[in-house]
Amino acid sequence: MRHGVPPAWVALWFALLAGTAAAGDGEYLFHAAGCAGCHTRDGGPALAGGRRFDTAFGAFYSPNITPDRETGIGEWTAQRFIHAVKHGTRDDGSAYFPVFPYPSYRLLSDDDASAIFDYLMTLPAHRQANREHDLPWWLARWMIAPWQWWIMEAPPEPPRDTEQQRGWYLVDALGHCGECHTPRKFAGVSDRSRYLGGNADGPEGDKVPNITPDRKAGIGKWSADDLAYFLETGALPDGDYTGSTMAEVVDNTTSKLTRDDRAAIVRYLRAVPPLPGD
Ligand code: HEC
Ligand code: HEC
Repeated sequence: MRHGVPPAWVALWFALLAGTAAAGDGEYLFHAAGCAGCHTRDGGPALAGGRRFDTAFGAFYSPNITPDRETGIGEWTAQRFIHAVKHGTRDDGSAYFPVFPYPSYRLLSDDDASAIFDYLMTLPAHRQANREHDLPWWLARWMIAPWQWWIMEAPPEPPRDTEQQRGWYLVDALGHCGECHTPRKFAGVSDRSRYLGGNADGPEGDKVPNITPDRKAGIGKWSADDLAYFLETGALPDGDYTGSTMAEVVDNTTSKLTRDDRAAIVRYLRAVPPLPGD
């Protein structure tokens, strides 16, 4: 046999290719979804949780999502993970608080959520017990389920235009940009009529700007290149750099996307309805 590759080698080669593609996918999606920042406290072990979120509803601490069997999610199945990330539901049927942005992640496909789980399971386990949230006396976990039923009822539809679907998926499902850039109505429900129209009351007390293509209030004067460059580097068109939580989003998420995916976000953002006011 002078020519011809032994079939076993071909099979192994395909298995390896498939294996790396799958692991790569989960890692890529994990970055695109920005899980790392929220689940790592300053100076703490990666993904072991303990980051504090001060909100109008008290202080929340993120849990450990490393594969540690006792303090992390090492004993979890992919199914349980999907229930948590996409439906905001705990193992015992109670609800997660929406500081965990599952109202966005519910738009993820099961395959993508599962790929993120597989990737997490390949990372180092860190033992670090979860911290209890510091909540006002009137707020309890059982109150979240009825709220969920209400907010989780009608998920936004993907755009019909197939050219816009990837950008939509990156912005709404993975990037959860609206969790900060869309204001909330009563009870923390996202105000879809002000989609990406800016939020006076963002995380950590930040004022979050309008990123619709309105020329005055939004980013309508930015060129497509300005916006792509911003997502890659955090540099604003005036030469300044973005700060606060957006700097984190750029570091952890948008700078790690492929050029094509950043271009898809740009195309999508430039086509959403422009909204005046901030
Ligand atoms: C904005 C911050 C934030 C982001 C982004 C975020 N999480 Fe979380 N996550 C939290 C908080 C806070 C909780 C705890 C919620 C609660 O106690 O009800 C949580 C809970 C969880 C849980 C439940 C763990 C347990 O022990 O019950 C899992 C699993 C999880 N997150 C995985 C992820 C993954 C995967 C991503 C990315 C796709 C992600 N999170 C993105 C803040 C975040
Ligand atoms: C955790 C909250 C948060 C998330 C998530 C978030 N942003 Fe931001 N974003 C901000 C804040 C806060 C600023 C303003 C930063 C500043 O003042 O320097 C900002 C600024 C921006 C700007 C600059 C606007 C201007 O007029 O200066 C753009 C563009 C932007 N974000 C796009 C996005 C996109 C696209 C996503 C999703 C991939 C996203 N953001 C996700 C909080 C967030």
